[in-house]
Amino acid sequence: MKTLAAAGILAMAALTSSTLPLHAQAAFVNTLMPQPAHLTTAAGSLPWTDSITVGVPRFHDQRLDDAIARTLEQIERKTGVHRQRSISTSGDSTLVIDVDGAGEAIQSLDENESYTLTATPSKVTIHAATVVGAMRGLTTLLQLVQTDGHTFFVPAVSIDDSPRFRWRGLMIDVGRHFEPVDVIKRNLDAMAAVKLNVFHWHLTEDQGFRIESKLFPKLAGEGSDGLYYTQDQAREIVAYARARGIRVVPEFDMPGHTRAWLVGHPELSSDPGPYTIRREFGVEEVAMDPTKESTYQLLDAFFGEMATIFPDPYLHLGGDETPGTQWKNSPHVVEFMHEHNFKTTEELQTYFSQRVLELAKKHGKHMVGWDEILNPALPTDAIIHSWRGAQSLYDAAQRGYQGILSQPYYLDGMKSAEEHYLADPLPASANLTPAQRQLVLGGEVCMWGEHVNQLSIDSRIWPRTAAVAERFWSPESVTDVDDMYRRLAVESLRIEALGLTQITHEGAALRELAGTEEISALRTFSSALQPVPFGERYRGQHTDQLTPLDNLVDAIRPDPPSRHQVAMLVRDLLKSPKTNTAARPQLKSIFQAWADCVPAVEAQMNRSPLLAEARPRAQQLAGLARTGQQALDYLSGAKKAPAGWKQAKLAEIEEARKPQVLVRFTFLDPLHDLVNAVQ
Ligand code: ACM
Repeated sequence: MKTLAAAGILAMAALTSSTLPLHAQAAFVNTLMPQPAHLTTAAGSLPWTDSITVGVPRFHDQRLDDAIARTLEQIERKTGVHRQRSISTSGDSTLVIDVDGAGEAIQSLDENESYTLTATPSKVTIHAATVVGAMRGLTTLLQLVQTDGHTFFVPAVSIDDSPRFRWRGLMIDVGRHFEPVDVIKRNLDAMAAVKLNVFHWHLTEDQGFRIESKLFPKLAGEGSDGLYYTQDQAREIVAYARARGIRVVPEFDMPGHTRAWLVGHPELSSDPGPYTIRREFGVEEVAMDPTKESTYQLLDAFFGEMATIFPDPYLHLGGDETPGTQWKNSPHVVEFMHEHNFKTTEELQTYFSQRVLELAKKHGKHMVGWDEILNPALPTDAIIHSWRGAQSLYDAAQRGYQGILSQPYYLDGMKSAEEHYLADPLPASANLTPAQRQLVLGGEVCMWGEHVNQLSIDSRIWPRTAAVAERFWSPESVTDVDDMYRRLAVESLRIEALGLTQITHEGAALRELAGTEEISALRTFSSALQPVPFGERYRGQHTDQLTPLDNLVDAIRPDPPSRHQVAMLVRDLLKSPKTNTAARPQLKSIFQAWADCVPAVEAQMNRSPLLAEARPRAQQLAGLARTGQQALDYLSGAKKAPAGWKQAKLAEIEEARKPQVLVRFTFLDPLHDLVNAVQ
C-alpha cells in the first residue's frame, strides 16, 4: 500500500539518502564547516563519555569559561552524555584548552583567531593565542564529535587553522522590517557556529529608525512605529556578540535612505517636509541636506552618543542610492554647488562623505561606505563596501582603499548556496598586486529586509550563509560543491539545534497556510519549489513595508535540498543513461512523489485562498514529473520516444520557466538535460 503521504516521505528519504548515511562509519566523517586550513587524520578516536575532564591550565577569563560551558552543553545535548560541570586548571585533563591570553579588549581586524586542535585517543588539546581563537577551536570540537551508531567519539585529528579573510560578515537590515532582540541573538549564535566575525547591523532606513537616541529621542520615537532597540538592548547585543568573538558594526545609512530620520527631524533635509515613514520600497528622492552646518552638528552629537554603545573601530555610513533629486530641486543646495564648483550631485555627495568621515574620525572610527562613495576626492582611509560588482572592490584596492565584497552574497537574490559559494572575494585572477590584495579585507552576506519578517528571516539566511562563511574562512582551493552540500546539510542541523528556525519555518508556515497538520503532500510539492528573486517578487506583487509576508513564497526555502540532489542525480545518470542503476530509481521515486502529491495539494488549495494562488504550479508539477519519468524510461532504452515528444517537452519546460505566483521550480535545468538527452 502506498499512500500519498508515504510517497512524500519516500521522496524525502531519497532526497537525503546520500547526504546523511543511515549508519555512519566508525571512521572520521568530515562534516567540518568551514573546512580548516590544515587537517590531518590519524587512527583511533577519543570516546566521548562522562569521564571526559576539562582543564584550562593557563589563561582563562569569564568569556572563555562561558564559551567552554556553552560548547560542553551543546555536546551534551548532541550526545546525551553528561557534561563535566567543573573545569580545573589541570593540563592532565582529557580536554585541555590552552590559551595564551585574553586577546584584544575591543576586537579588531587584527584579532588573532587562529588555533590548533589535536585529538588523540587519549586527549584533545586546543591551543590558541587568544580567547577568540579558542572559541573558533571549540566550534570545531563540537563539529568533530560524531557517532558510529553506538557511541560518540572525537576522531584523532590534527588541525592547524586560521581564517583566509579578516572580515567575515553578515549584514541584517532591521530598517525595513524590525527584528526582535532574540532573532538577532540566535543569528549571532549561528554566525559563531560557522566562524563569522562581523555583524553589520543596518539600523536606519527610509522605512524605520531602529535605535534609541537619548539626545534626539524623536529619531526612533517618530521614525520607527515604536519598533526600535533601546540603548540597553543594543549594548546587550554588542556584549552577546563579543562573547562569541563577533564584532558589531552599526550602519547609519546616509545621506539617502534617511526618510525615517526626517519624520522627527525634518530640518535635516533641504525641504521642510513634513515627512512620514516610508512604506514603499526602492530608491527614495529625499536625503539629508549636505549644505547645512546644523546637519553635521546633529550627526556629530549622534555619532558621539552611538560610540558609547558600539565600541567597534568601524562605523558604516551607507552612502548608497542617493539620486540627488531633492538637492537639484532645492535652490539653496544648487547655490551651494555653484559656490563650491560641484558639477554633479555625486561631487556634492563626496563633500558630504568627507565631512562625515571627519566626524567618524573625531569619534575614533573608521568610516565604511557602500561603493557609491568611491570618488577621487575621497580620502583613502574610507573602506569601500562593494555591492554593485567585484570590480569596484578591485578598483578601490588599486587606488589604495581597503574594501569588502557583498555583491555576490545578496540573499534576497534567492540564489543557490552553490552560486554564492563559488564567488570568491579575491580570486587568483583578480588583477591586483600582493600589496593591493592585502587591502581586500573579506566579505559580507547581506540580508535585506524588504521580504523577511521575524518568522521567515532564519530560513532566508541559513543554511546558505554557512556556505559563504566557508568561502570567507577556508583556503581558496576548497571548492567541491557536492562536498559542500553534504556538509551543509549537517551544519544546518547543528544550526537548528541552536534554536534557529530555518528548517522548521517551512512546516509551520505550510500548516498555517493549509489550516491543518496534514501537510505531507504540501511538503512534497514545496520540495520542488523555491522563492523568486527579490526583483521578480517586488514587481510581481508590488510589495511595500505593510504587505503581509504570508504567501507560499514566504513558506518555502531558498535552495531546498532537492535542487542540488536532483541536479547531482541527473548528472550522474547522464554519464551512462542506459546502464546507470543507482540514480534512476532515486529520480523515479522523486518524480513519482511529485506527481502523486498534486491531487492532495489541489484539494488543500480548494480550502485555502492563499494556497489556491499557486494552483498553476501544482498543475505544471504534475506534467513535469510525468515528463521526467518518461525521459527516464526512454533513456533506459526500455521504450522509444514518439515523434515530436522531445520538442513538446522542451517547450513544456520553457513554459514552466515563466514567472508565475512568485515561486519557481528547482529542477528545470536538470529536467531539460534529461529530456534533451533522449534520442
Ligand atoms: C544597497 O544594496 N543599496 C547597498
